[in-house]
Amino acid sequence: MPVTDIHTHFFPESWPDLAARFGTPDWPRIQHTAPGKALIMIGNRTFREISSACWDANVRLEQMDRDGVDRQIICATPVLFAYNREAQHARDCARLFNDAALELCARGRGRLRALCQVPLQDIDASCAELTRCMRAGHLGVQIGNHVGDKNLDDPGILTFLQHCAGEGAAVFVHPWDMMAAQRMPKYMAPWTVGMPAETQLSLVTLIASGAFDRLPANLRICFAHGGGSFAFLLGRLQNAWQRKEAARGAAQFPPHHYLGRFYVDSAVFDQRALQFLVEVMGADRVLFGSDYPFPLGEERAGALIRESQFSPDTKTKLLGANAQTWLGLPQEAAAPATTKAAPADNSSGCPVRSTAGGADAAHKDDDAHAGKKLTYSSYLQVPELLRLQHPESSPEHHDELLFIIVHQTYELWFKELLHDLDAVVANLRATCENPTSRDGVYEAARLLRRCTEIMRVLVEQFTILETMLPTHFLAFREKLAPASGFQSEQFRELEFLCGLKDEKMLRYHELTPETHAVLFRRLREDSLRDVFFQALEALGTLQPPAAAATEEEKFQARAKAIHALYRDERHHRDWIDVCERLTEFDELVVSWRLRHIQMVERTIGIRMGTGGSAGSSYLKLTLEKKFFPELWEARTYLEG
Ligand code: HEM
Repeated sequence: MPVTDIHTHFFPESWPDLAARFGTPDWPRIQHTAPGKALIMIGNRTFREISSACWDANVRLEQMDRDGVDRQIICATPVLFAYNREAQHARDCARLFNDAALELCARGRGRLRALCQVPLQDIDASCAELTRCMRAGHLGVQIGNHVGDKNLDDPGILTFLQHCAGEGAAVFVHPWDMMAAQRMPKYMAPWTVGMPAETQLSLVTLIASGAFDRLPANLRICFAHGGGSFAFLLGRLQNAWQRKEAARGAAQFPPHHYLGRFYVDSAVFDQRALQFLVEVMGADRVLFGSDYPFPLGEERAGALIRESQFSPDTKTKLLGANAQTWLGLPQEAAAPATTKAAPADNSSGCPVRSTAGGADAAHKDDDAHAGKKLTYSSYLQVPELLRLQHPESSPEHHDELLFIIVHQTYELWFKELLHDLDAVVANLRATCENPTSRDGVYEAARLLRRCTEIMRVLVEQFTILETMLPTHFLAFREKLAPASGFQSEQFRELEFLCGLKDEKMLRYHELTPETHAVLFRRLREDSLRDVFFQALEALGTLQPPAAAATEEEKFQARAKAIHALYRDERHHRDWIDVCERLTEFDELVVSWRLRHIQMVERTIGIRMGTGGSAGSSYLKLTLEKKFFPELWEARTYLEG
């Protein structure tokens, strides 16, 4: 995975005199002062000292090698945005700059790629320039975080962002033209105070205006400098959203909901800040960005991430894998030579590795590779877990947290049940291959015992929810529609896995294709019930059905096979144990259904469900459902 620095700037070595060309003063210009040294001048005022790293590809590549950086994404120096100029001048300036960026990339031996700039005061011209640049080889665009008084929620800017999504362009938002300039004449306050606040303002307006609700989900947008003060102030924003209508604006969801909609770079210069940033944003949302080669950039690009306590997998994500996603480039599995070429930075001794295993696997590897640094909290991902409760009521109803946690707990246990029942199926299948071996039967019974114990807890757990008064639930119930237990993918998976397959239930998952696909697969696969009877066939207890046998005849044959097992207890103790566990599991699921109905009636009476069913009267119909009806049927024939 190439180590990619997504936040670097450049300035061409030579640059036309734009003041003379456009007849307006104070265009930035470059004034060379010594070999490899220059000043960016604005009129007669020195804006910044720069070096040949700004324009010389060889210098950049040398420093990239020194720092172990495989690739830089270069973009404009914000002082050149020119949004406050005549649009046509800004457009010409952008074109000059964009073409110069590609020239520099051409000298970068494939290791420099560019983001273009656009005249954002003119949306049509911006869209046209972006399209031109994407065709010419830019990977996206860098924009300033505002155009005069217009923030990023301005309808024109949103149109441009939509265009970016359509073009597949990565968008990098850089603060510029900082607020309250009169109050920040000294101490570089525009950079240290103004920039983080500008970015915060951009993110707040995108969220509160509802822009993120309307912008296409495939927009890949990243904010410079760790997203400014956003991560640190998210709690404040969240609090305001919950308490004050005015703070909520048009956003459909609370602020934290939108964390998955944007990326931030890692230019925060402090280990604790980076740690916090990754905790808030998630390890998939932070990209290595150094602000190279400017004075406030990271001195040894990438050192902050390399010297962090993150696992190798998280480092790989931050240093390069996330950039591939943001830039819309394919993930590359192999680490190129320069990934390893930063011995000073790679002091953890851990090679930077590929994240091919995906996010979940990466998390597990995080722990495994943390070695002695593994803690209770990092192993169990407690902070992540505790961040997953997001009440919808506003002001937040005290009992909604309980409602969420009880459901989440059920879902965790459903996960464990699926895990164990899949293993039961695998063990029974193994006995089909080798019917004389007792191992699979023993293991299936052992795991089924666990499943029944879990079900027992799940039946009991409703009592906790019943400590919530009906009136308290009704106070926030309407916020939950149309969400409903109908949509519990795992519950339906459990039903399908055990043998209760009802294709109609797939309709509740049409809006979530991934869930739909999982359930569809479960529908097609052999169920636990199927595999159990296949095993009895392999054992010789059950004869394969005749081709002409009716469903009823097949059913009776299976029930009789069970009957036969019980009649010959001495030889089939282990199989009888499996039968007893399956029956008990079935019984407990019915108990669960019953307790659920009682709790539903106790809480909402005979009201309709949020999923659109008749409520308890619908649920009562499900009480007849059994996973293993043959096991019950056999009991009618048994005698002592
Ligand atoms: C106050 C608490 C609850 C109420 C009022 C409630 C109400 C309902 C209602 C009315 C339905 C029928 C479908 C619909 O129209 O929405 C339903 C289905 C369902 N609920 Fe609940 N429920 C509650 C708590 C829970 C909990 C804690 C779970 C745990 C996972 C759960 C899981 C389910 C499942 C899986 C279904 C689908 C059942 C099936 O289709 O057989 N519910 N619930």
